[in-house]
Amino acid sequence: MAAGDVTIAAFAGSLRKGSYNRMLLRAAVELTPPGVLLQVMEIDDVPLYNADLDVDDAPPAPIKRLRDVIRSADALLIVSPENNYSVPAVTKNVIDWASTDETVLDGKPAAVMGASPGQYGTTRMQLHLRQLAAATNMLMINKPAILVARCRDKFDADGRLIDQRVRESIPQHLTALADFARRLRKTYPM
Ligand code: FNR
Repeated sequence: MAAGDVTIAAFAGSLRKGSYNRMLLRAAVELTPPGVLLQVMEIDDVPLYNADLDVDDAPPAPIKRLRDVIRSADALLIVSPENNYSVPAVTKNVIDWASTDETVLDGKPAAVMGASPGQYGTTRMQLHLRQLAAATNMLMINKPAILVARCRDKFDADGRLIDQRVRESIPQHLTALADFARRLRKTYPM
């Protein structure tokens, strides 16, 4: 992790060990441009959303941790699979937990990447995620899109991204997100 003037909190919306989206997030860490720090959040211990646990002064420890990391970051990167043409429960659960504390996602610059074995590369998930962005007021960048279709061919046996075109797009995507965060910071200083 290199230091930077823009910190991006990031998580992958898949819990399985061999997840292509976790590999994609690792590629994003490897390809992070200068001036940007990618802070990866592990979400394995995030419980299913339960309003009974969502109490102001004492949320469960994993929820406090993820809210703190996202709140203090300049931006959020979501790397997610597509399930049933939409946002998987794992990804949405994190967003739901983050959203009920209004200081976390409101006005947060955000971006999405995704990998899937199919030919559309999470297009439908990415569109549905933008619907969640409308509800939570995450401010999403749109381009360049990172849609890793036929992902089984795009990583080697060690889980390293080997698709040259995607490798070139990732720093551009992170730069677009970081530049957007810098622009917002200048327009609306804390
Ligand atoms: C899938 N998968 C899938 N893929 C896709 O491109 N569009 C889809 O709508 C779905 N739907 C879907 C539903 C469910 C319940 C499962 C379990 C899977 C396939 C999915 O993209 C594939 O398993 C990915 O490899 C999952 O991402 P990770 O775990 O590799 O990151």
